[in-house]
Amino acid sequence: MLLGIETSCDETAAAVLDCDHRVRSSIIFSQVADHQPYGGVVPELASRCHVQALAGVVETALAEAGIGWDAVSGLAVTRGPGLATSLLTGVVYARALATRLCVPLFGVNHLIGHLHSIWLRGDEPPLAPVYPHLILLVSGGHTCLVRRDDPQTWRVLGQTLDDAAGEALDKGARLLGLGYPGGPEIQRLAVSGDPSAIPFPRGLPAPGSGGWDHPFSFSGLKTALLYHLRKNPGDLAVDRLPHVAASYQAAVVDTLIRRVEQACREAGDIALIGCAGGVARNQRLREALNQLGQRIGRPVVFAAPDVCADNAAMIAAAAAACYAPLFPDGSGTDVDPNLAVTTR
Ligand code: KG4
Ligand code: ZN
Repeated sequence: MLLGIETSCDETAAAVLDCDHRVRSSIIFSQVADHQPYGGVVPELASRCHVQALAGVVETALAEAGIGWDAVSGLAVTRGPGLATSLLTGVVYARALATRLCVPLFGVNHLIGHLHSIWLRGDEPPLAPVYPHLILLVSGGHTCLVRRDDPQTWRVLGQTLDDAAGEALDKGARLLGLGYPGGPEIQRLAVSGDPSAIPFPRGLPAPGSGGWDHPFSFSGLKTALLYHLRKNPGDLAVDRLPHVAASYQAAVVDTLIRRVEQACREAGDIALIGCAGGVARNQRLREALNQLGQRIGRPVVFAAPDVCADNAAMIAAAAAACYAPLFPDGSGTDVDPNLAVTTR
């Protein structure tokens, strides 16, 4: 039984994974309500909330899995990337616990955790990974396209040069006077809007920019929305907002899909397309990626909705699949707020 712990941002999470990689429990304590008044995550508030919640969340995860401390045979904790003080909360707690329980501790890259989330199927056995595959990781803090050739080998084909896809949705929602987090708010309004009402730019940076074959960029889109609203203040009216939200969401999704298609066609040998991260919950993105899969004849796998956003099950899964063989002595738990997806 592997106990996973995740405190990189504004979710305090713990999960228990059994030896067949089935999720025996996954507890996520969201701090969204605490940060909502500020329109985004306040780092010091986040770490204080983690301190208050973590022990209870871990105990609940063990209770839901129906196990005691003595059944825990290893610990996995997120060591980066994320908010420095939030990461420290989880790592310090996990180190103390691992010492007390005399079990190995694995420091996990949060982004590699997201890559593993696509196979998890709750208390059912996970899907069998298919290689090579391409994963679009889209969250509030990250947007990248990763190629995986086997559990230990991956290559980043593209990353955002500025804002992440979720960040673009959050910032766009703010300009539209909507709540935080913005992605679900934009999706809710977009349902009744016309996605072709406003031709927002699909501003793809040139291939090769920033050192990536398939880079992403969203800051121009956000600026385009700002200027559009300055020029057309009437678009903030209740009857126009759904059209603006639908058009903005369509621009974000198109930008992502075009890159995935290009990377798939270029690589030629991609056997499967995966999608993970909080934005992978987006309905339009799911439809568009499924359509792309059909068009180019590739299966598409999405992280299940309960493991799209930050969670500890994916941290334990990553440790089980690719860290445990590498760090049997429990090394590699230094906190690194800027840990890149290219780093173990
Ligand atoms: O993975 P996540 O929970 O946290 C990070 O690691 O960043 O992702 C949060 C992001 C936020 O930007 C939020 O607006 C976005 O995921 N998000 C969505 C949806 N649900 C969450 N974006 C679009 N559509 C959704 N349904
Ligand atoms: Zn995340």
